[in-house]
Amino acid sequence: MTGSCPSLPHRCSKLRAYGVPSRVTPLYMTELKPLPFKLGSLKGISEKAMLIHHDKLYAGYVKKSDEIGEKLIALRKSDNYEGNATFSELRALKDAETFAINGVYLHEWYFDVLGGDGVADKAPQLSKAFIEKWGSIEDGIKWFSACAMAARGWSILAWDLKAGRLKHYNGDSHNQGGVWGSIPVITLDCFEHAYFIDYGSDKKKYIEDFWKNLDWVKAEELYLKVSQLSI
Ligand SMILES: [Fe+2]
Repeated sequence: MTGSCPSLPHRCSKLRAYGVPSRVTPLYMTELKPLPFKLGSLKGISEKAMLIHHDKLYAGYVKKSDEIGEKLIALRKSDNYEGNATFSELRALKDAETFAINGVYLHEWYFDVLGGDGVADKAPQLSKAFIEKWGSIEDGIKWFSACAMAARGWSILAWDLKAGRLKHYNGDSHNQGGVWGSIPVITLDCFEHAYFIDYGSDKKKYIEDFWKNLDWVKAEELYLKVSQLSI
């Protein structure tokens, strides 16, 4: 029994590939999501670069997330594990777990806001937040872009649940630099793999094109949802 799942075709096909009926999805499994925009539709970022980014790198993090989940379950069930912080199989898996799962989530946040026309007027509330925070949209983009130039991995404008406001954070790795309790709104992949194919070492131009490709409508939708939350 495989059933059909039109809303999640990729997950279902992956489950079938694993030989797992779709109605009994293991809790550790991660969903492989399709790109939310048409391949080849971005300004400056080629179809080839995005295909590699999504189908190889992102898909690889999804696959490894599942593999790590399986190994953690098997290790627990073996009842033969050691929680050693210098080195242990459990430590290695727990470290890899946050790297892989953040690799999945961060790429989804990034892909989710691409495919737009870069027109900030389409996001009135987020634009207002930019102006309140940085004085103007242009000054906000200028600061964010400089922070992105300084990042080796991720540059993110997030809704910080503890602070109850937008804050910008950088991370040099998937599991470094993030602040727990913050939900990304605008996520920029600053790893070399995101731009070297199309821009060589010209990271500045890649970042300029990111803003041209930003879907402010989607960013606004996300901002309106998360800015309702505080703890
Ligand atoms: Fe990436």
